[in-house]
Amino acid sequence: MYQKIYFEELDSTNKEAKNIAEQNLNTKEIVIISKKQFEGQGTRNRLWKSHEGGLYFSILLRPKKMLPLFSLMAGVSVIETLKEFADLDFKIKWPNDVLLNKNKISGILTECKFNGNNLVYMIIGCGININQTEFERFTHYGATSLYILTGKKFDLNNILDTYLKKFNNLYSNYINTNSDELLEKLEKYSILQGKNIIAEINQNIFIIGKVVGINSQGGLIIKKESGKEEIIFSGSILSFE
Ligand code: BTN
Repeated sequence: MYQKIYFEELDSTNKEAKNIAEQNLNTKEIVIISKKQFEGQGTRNRLWKSHEGGLYFSILLRPKKMLPLFSLMAGVSVIETLKEFADLDFKIKWPNDVLLNKNKISGILTECKFNGNNLVYMIIGCGININQTEFERFTHYGATSLYILTGKKFDLNNILDTYLKKFNNLYSNYINTNSDELLEKLEKYSILQGKNIIAEINQNIFIIGKVVGINSQGGLIIKKESGKEEIIFSGSILSFE
């Protein structure tokens, strides 16, 4: 399975995974893990606060092509892993958040390198809040951890191993059989399903409508007021109800 490389501290596990991918052109299926990060990267150039107690790791893969579905696959794996330790109603908020009661417990940052149209490598970076006891006030959303939800502390290695097994199953099933398993799970866990949303797809470009599903590539299908459907492959959800 995956080869794991542990660090006490790093700027960012995604950055370290990129360095390794650039230096060794054949490496894949490597996981970089760090106890803490002093420059953890979030989406949209935000920083991901990474104090000790959380689980921070990045998986280096070299699939044939890039699909937004891979980030969602990482999110489904987070949910199925967390459920093994606390059977709560975790949800995915497309494209890359895992929430419990609208509080964020995990975020995923997927980064890719292309050579022309060819994908050279993909890095799936995942931060999961496990043993943190408190969070600084976030401006736009609340945060939670497995400890805050259950009052218990967890072994991070145990959680990582569970995660890698779940992710590997979904990934290899998808690559080898192209099955619908993932899409069915996504629909079940998606907090946006059937909700009215406002999505920002580019700076100051918004789409307003109702979410009717996720397509086979991982795009979000939105039915606009005009009745026309639009599929978006990236963007951020500003509100949903
Ligand atoms: C988000 O903004 O929701 C995505 C956060 C992703 C954080 C993880 S922590 C491990 C990996 N290394 C990074 O620098 N970022 C990701």
